[in-house]
Amino acid sequence: MTGALSDLLNNKPLAKEHLVQLLGITNQEEHEALLHHGLNTKAASVGRIVYLRGLIELTNKCAKNCFYCGIRAGNDTIERYFLSDEDVLQAAEFAYKNQFGSLVIQTGELSGPIFAAQIERLLKLIHRHTNNELTITLSCGEQSQEVYQRWKDAGASRYLLRIEASTRKLYESIHPADGNHDYDTRIKGLEDLKKCGYQVGTGVMIGLPGQTLEDLADDLLFFSKMDIDMVGMGPYLEHADTPMFDKRNLLLPANERFLLSLRMIALLRIMMPYINIAASTALETINPLGRQMGILAGANVVMPNLTPVTDRKKYLLYNNKPNLDKDASLSTATLNDVLSSIGETIGYGRAGDSIHFSHRQA
Ligand code: 5AD
Ligand code: SF4
Repeated sequence: MTGALSDLLNNKPLAKEHLVQLLGITNQEEHEALLHHGLNTKAASVGRIVYLRGLIELTNKCAKNCFYCGIRAGNDTIERYFLSDEDVLQAAEFAYKNQFGSLVIQTGELSGPIFAAQIERLLKLIHRHTNNELTITLSCGEQSQEVYQRWKDAGASRYLLRIEASTRKLYESIHPADGNHDYDTRIKGLEDLKKCGYQVGTGVMIGLPGQTLEDLADDLLFFSKMDIDMVGMGPYLEHADTPMFDKRNLLLPANERFLLSLRMIALLRIMMPYINIAASTALETINPLGRQMGILAGANVVMPNLTPVTDRKKYLLYNNKPNLDKDASLSTATLNDVLSSIGETIGYGRAGDSIHFSHRQA
């Protein structure tokens, strides 16, 4: 057993060099011991309860041009959509009737007064329609503090803004230098969200071209230093119509990116026992059992996709995205069986707020 692993299992504090060693585990038994420790930590802190967030991909319109993303503004091969109120309310109603407790509204990164007003209006509309019983998370990109506050006042309680890569050099290598992607502005966004009283989530991609284990260890330390409440992270996946596709020969094999993502989840759970961690769709893209494996490494949130099937096909951040034609009611029923078969209970009808957040407030 590596020294770092036995230290970890004996609850010794984790320095960067230990994180690097643990992320670099190649031995299967050690890998499993690490994930198991992630699961045990979860059981003892937030419990073996999985919270559902119904995901509504409101629009694939985006003003930005991230090198890795399939819905980047420069990809003119895709049809752009913006869901109608009716579609949004139908998805919200599904979440409500099926006791999801919570919704996530995700968009490309748009800005300006029209967009700010659209989101504000939809927040109010959804709350009215669902008896104020669903909590809403927004994942709508960088905005001014005023806009974050306006949306908070309109009823959003959580916000996801992924840092994507927490080391400045890597962040800058995966985004164009077009004035739209400033590392410091992104961090200021996370701070502004905290000031507005949100439960704040961030995340990174794992297995990016040029990314080292040191970068990933820094990502974990970044989450801890920023005292973040929620994390969504998963493997980077290729998309053929993006500039990053040209670097595909630099990538780890998909299954190694997958296993590395599981170790990231386990280590994060051990470092931050009370935060919410999502088992990302990207995990499931590489391995059909990815979602449950993420849960068994320490994740406690899943986000079933409630976007209408016709538009779902247009929200392709990466190639081979799963569940493109699965009806939401069908996948929800399966999810219940799958999660109970691995010893987890779904937190039906519960908001599933980040316990870390309530500790932070106190
Ligand atoms: N592979 C994996 N994740 C991606 N995202 C965007 N493009 C990709 C990709 N090619 C993630 C980003 C973004 C979130 C909505 O999806 O982290 O924040
Ligand atoms: Fe737009 Fe987000 Fe994709 Fe970047 S990752 S291109 S901001 S949708």
